[in-house]
Amino acid sequence: MKTYKIAVLPGDGTGPEVIAEGLKALNAVKNKVGIQFDFHRYDFGGNRFLATGEVLPDGAIEELRGYDSIFLGAIGHPDVKPGILEKGILLRLRFELDQYINLRPVKLYPGVWTPIKDKGPEEIDFVVVRENCAGLYTGGGQIIKKGRPQEVAIQEMVYTRFDVDRCLRYAFEYTRRRNKKNTLTLCGKTNVLTFVYDLWERAFHEMGKKDYPEIKREYAHVDAITMWMVKNPEWFDVIVTGNMFGDIITDLGAMVQGGMGVAAGGNINPEGTSMFEPIGGSAPKYTGKNVINPIACICAAQMMLDHLGEHKAAEILDRAIADFLGSGILPGLSVAEIQKAGMSTSKIGDAIAQRVADRS
Ligand code: IPM
Ligand code: MN
Repeated sequence: MKTYKIAVLPGDGTGPEVIAEGLKALNAVKNKVGIQFDFHRYDFGGNRFLATGEVLPDGAIEELRGYDSIFLGAIGHPDVKPGILEKGILLRLRFELDQYINLRPVKLYPGVWTPIKDKGPEEIDFVVVRENCAGLYTGGGQIIKKGRPQEVAIQEMVYTRFDVDRCLRYAFEYTRRRNKKNTLTLCGKTNVLTFVYDLWERAFHEMGKKDYPEIKREYAHVDAITMWMVKNPEWFDVIVTGNMFGDIITDLGAMVQGGMGVAAGGNINPEGTSMFEPIGGSAPKYTGKNVINPIACICAAQMMLDHLGEHKAAEILDRAIADFLGSGILPGLSVAEIQKAGMSTSKIGDAIAQRVADRS
């Protein structure tokens, strides 16, 4: 029987609660397809940092490299200055494990309310491939004359041909594998960022023309794409973009698909260890209250199964999530609506695990 070694990083705030439900779903699905999980928990996050002064212990990265996958809850603690945990844990793992793709599906499940009028699951089903290790996130730049009226701040958007090519390669391959509209849209800003997005645009068409002639290539400026994502989400199949634009448009994507409660992402190193997470934050004010919606985390577990090559397991879990959301048990995904329905974090997890167990 195949056993997957999974590092579990519940993290901060409501991270541990939603991770518990993700693990419940994984344990339910493993019995269906005959696989095993070997889970190892790590306590990286704000509490550990406050207690020990250490963000990530020495050797942590090397240890994590030895896993088949990483399952992450949430990073962010109200008593820790913003940036320390995000940079010290989340971004460090992405960079050092070379998870150069951030894969973020924008898929509206049946029964989920979207603020986009007259659009349903048929129209809202696309995927953003965000470059995840370079661009504005490399940290290049400086502050000169700090605190003086003449202060200068420089933050550099750095892309090498290598960064761009490997991201585009993944995006084209993904579009081909997905085999829906066979359309890849490059999201850039070629009218202003005439160096970085010029490189992206040339590389995009060169690669597409040569190796993926059957994939239709489209282009949209980042400002315009925020309009189209709202007005005509059905135009999109796969969108590929740089790190910063990808960060911004995937929060919009999360809202289009019904909110942070259902938005998950994969930080993928196609040749190494990948990490899956719900993309909402640690929601500190709801910590320990058993009220937060765990579905995004269960969706992250679903993506992890798919990435591990357990496509049947991923499909079973996807259908269980869709069944549950489509059942109308939840009138909406907010904390207030979850409470109104008499549901809770653990009850939602139970309901999805039960639907997995009931599938033949
Ligand atoms: C995300 C987050 C992170 C990012 C932050 C927390 C560093 O917003 O995963 O989208 O900017 O990538
Ligand atoms: Mn973000």
